[in-house]
Formats: sequence, structure tokens, C-alpha cells
Amino acid sequence: MSNLKQPTGYKYSLISNILFPTMDLFYGRATTFSKLKVLELIARIPYQSWEHNFFVWLTHKYGKKEYVERAIEEMKMARAAQDNEQWHLFILADLINQFKIKENFLLHVVLPQIIAFTYFYIISIVHFFKPEWSYKLNADFEYHAENAYKQFVEDNPQFKDQKVESSFFKYYGNVENLADLLLKFAEDERHHKEESLAMIQKIKLENKKS
Ligand SMILES: [Fe+2]
Ligand SMILES: [Fe+2]
Repeated sequence: MSNLKQPTGYKYSLISNILFPTMDLFYGRATTFSKLKVLELIARIPYQSWEHNFFVWLTHKYGKKEYVERAIEEMKMARAAQDNEQWHLFILADLINQFKIKENFLLHVVLPQIIAFTYFYIISIVHFFKPEWSYKLNADFEYHAENAYKQFVEDNPQFKDQKVESSFFKYYGNVENLADLLLKFAEDERHHKEESLAMIQKIKLENKKS
């Protein structure tokens, strides 16, 4: 799917409207397994960044019960989601190996590491000053990923007949075929998006109270 095509009924933030087309410039408009793998590598980052922020803050604020309660809830979400994203990443990397897909070392190995490193600190800073903005950026990313997976399956009906196997299924769960696997990933992304949107509502509510 072209990342320029914004699905209806959901509004991306300005930064997402710049981010996704920029990624298309580097990785092409069409969805590929390699492009999805790059997205998954980056998708783990916000969750690790949030967890890291809370971990550091708790070093100072461990005695403030209200703060600890908030940290527990958000860290729990972030830990579960980053693990889930890792299974997506490991399984896609495994499939790319199995399918013998040729990758470009700079585009698919080096650049994603640089993006991931930079993204970690951007999210960390935004989360520190304006947590709801970091959750919105992540919700956009998740919504984009959900639609990329769905469109990829729609564009490739043969995936329904393609059996798929990975040693990581013992952690992630088994699926019947490649289409089911990618749609299961899409469902995970939808869940991640909803969690981030719920966090925004929670923060807005807390801000109103204080
Ligand atoms: Fe994912
Ligand atoms: Fe996700």
C-alpha cells in the first residue's frame, strides 16, 4: 500500500504526514516484507522509550503513590506491546530469510538502526514534555501499520494458500497461512493504536482534574 494514501476516518498528525511519505521515498510506495520489517524494528522503539522514561523517573519519584500508579499502568502496557512488536520483527526477519528476499544493506540494515536510535530519544523528549503527543504519534504509526498489513493481504490473495512456519510461533502462536499471520499482525497493531489513544484520553482527564 502507498503510505501516502491516508485511510479515511482517522486524522494523522502533521509530523506523521511528513514521516510516512518520507519513508516512502526511501523504501518505495509499495508494501514489501522488507519494508514491513523496517516498520517493525521502529515500532518497538516508543514502548521501550516510555518504559525507560518511567524507569528513570521512578528513581526519583518512587515515593509518590499517584505517580507510581500511573507508571505501573503505562509500563505494563509498554512492556507487553514491545514484546508483541518483537515477535512481529523476528517472524518477518525469519520469513525474509526463508523466502530468500534480497535486501539492501544500507537501506534495510544500517538506516533502520539510525532511525531507531534517533526515534528513541525524540519519543523520550516528547514524552517528557507532552506525553499525549508521543502517544498520538504512536497511534498514527500503529494505524498506518495496521492498514499496510491489511492492504498487503488484499493485494496478494495468494497469501491465503501459502502455508507458513516459523520457530517463533511457539512464542507468538500458530497460524494457518501467510494471510492469517499478516492479519493477526494487523489486529495487534489495531490493539496498540487503541491503547495509545486510550492513554491520550487518560492524560486529558488527569490534566482536567489537576
Ligand atoms: Fe508490529
Ligand atoms: Fe504495533
